[in-house]
Amino acid sequence: MPDLPAPLEEQSDTAAALLHVLASHAPAELRNDRGEVDPEALCCALEILAEQQSPTGEGYSFSWPGKQQAQQIASPAQLQQQSRLCRADGAAFQPATPLDHHALIVGDNLFGLAHYEHLTSEQPEVIYIDPPYNTGGSMVYADSFHDKRRARGTEPVGKHASWLSLMLPRLRLARDILADNGVIYVSIDDTEVAQLRLVMDELFGVRNHLATFVWETKRAARGVPPKHLVMTNHEYVLAYAKHASHFQFRGVEREIDGFHNPDEDPRGPWRSESMKATDRRSNVFTITDPVTGRRYTGNWAFTQETLTAMIADNRVVFPADPQGTPRQKKFFDSYRNPRKAFVTQLGWYSTEAATKALQRQFDGVRVFDFPKPQALLQFLLKQATDNGIVLDFFAGSGSTAEAVVACNAADGGNRRAVLMQQPEILPADAAARQLGLETISDITRARFERCLAVSNSDRSGTGAWPLQVYEITY
Ligand SMILES: C[S@@+](CC[C@H](N)C(=O)[O-])C[C@H]1O[C@@H](n2cnc3c(N)ncnc32)[C@H](O)[C@@H]1O
Repeated sequence: MPDLPAPLEEQSDTAAALLHVLASHAPAELRNDRGEVDPEALCCALEILAEQQSPTGEGYSFSWPGKQQAQQIASPAQLQQQSRLCRADGAAFQPATPLDHHALIVGDNLFGLAHYEHLTSEQPEVIYIDPPYNTGGSMVYADSFHDKRRARGTEPVGKHASWLSLMLPRLRLARDILADNGVIYVSIDDTEVAQLRLVMDELFGVRNHLATFVWETKRAARGVPPKHLVMTNHEYVLAYAKHASHFQFRGVEREIDGFHNPDEDPRGPWRSESMKATDRRSNVFTITDPVTGRRYTGNWAFTQETLTAMIADNRVVFPADPQGTPRQKKFFDSYRNPRKAFVTQLGWYSTEAATKALQRQFDGVRVFDFPKPQALLQFLLKQATDNGIVLDFFAGSGSTAEAVVACNAADGGNRRAVLMQQPEILPADAAARQLGLETISDITRARFERCLAVSNSDRSGTGAWPLQVYEITY
């Protein structure tokens, strides 16, 4: 006979004893900012341990060459010792809590994340990142991560390993910074989506995975036909909460389309919905139309008593056609929540249009390839915060800054953007150089300033946040 679990009170003694031991022995990964053992992190570790153990001795594990080294990188204290966060204009600064400006940190985001607390102790409610996809494509930034050892005829050895080693320490620092009610969105495509999902599950916990959104990048298979005659036209955005129990998307507005009031019911617009039972329950009885006297037998979703009351209260619509089926009236105002759920297929957001819009912002010069579409970013931000900090530590051309500024302008929100971008030197033939821009962070800054110049001229007081630029020095 298998051992029975200990009674509950003994189990809680065991939990207390375990916490007591862990208080002095737990590794840093299991502790929060105050050094206490974090029960969520502990649960994650136990989940992983349970996966790894099997009666046959086989184990499940997610590992790559360099993982251990990558795990050891992320101590903020060490990173802070190796670098400094300074204002680009040389002025002294103190942490500002709440943060009273937008910020751009020019430098490697590993150090930027480690210094975040020097900027503010207000934690970001949203992190959106769009890391290099590791496609090896020719972008103005490096998009290929692999070591030089190559097995003949196969993918470069370590392609995924190098990318994961870039991501792991940064995602871990990001997780620790994220507010308890916060969410992180990560854009990705097929090249690394599988790796990303596993590393996010490990860091944030499977239970905090909220959704894997899919969005269409193009509508049709235009251009040179690919070898297999199939063209991928979607990307992903993985969404994880810091704590799924503390986070909810805002949802989308319930649309009144489809609700009418042909009988001028004082309870307002309604639509008819089926009232047939959808489960196997047998609730078969006959109801009578009080006007025509026609009788309808069915397996109903309501009890006879409830349905009789509904008929008396004019909540049932009887069909004009005797072959039809009675339906219930669902009033628009009866929904307790005016917002409704949305689906993970987010639709089509043109990447071509996004590139052209950015080009127009920069006087017709194509300064950056494939910036993320504004409508997509604004949708994601509005789903998660009205007034919080939005952190993007792979800022690129600064699409997130524009989205934050545009969302605030549209809904009066007070979101503040904190962007990080390393000063990657632009190729000698990069179009952006025509405008005197030499690094990617020059592009980020220029775009940020252009957006603010337009938006802040229409806004004053709260919400017209200025931009402060910081640098990481070593
Ligand atoms: C895919 S792009 C982001 C594009 C951006 N979402 C947009 O719409 O313009 C990734 C960016 O991350 C930057 N990046 C890569 N590694 C970085 C690092 N360690 N620290 C800071 N930025 C980095 C690259 O220079 C590149 O600009």
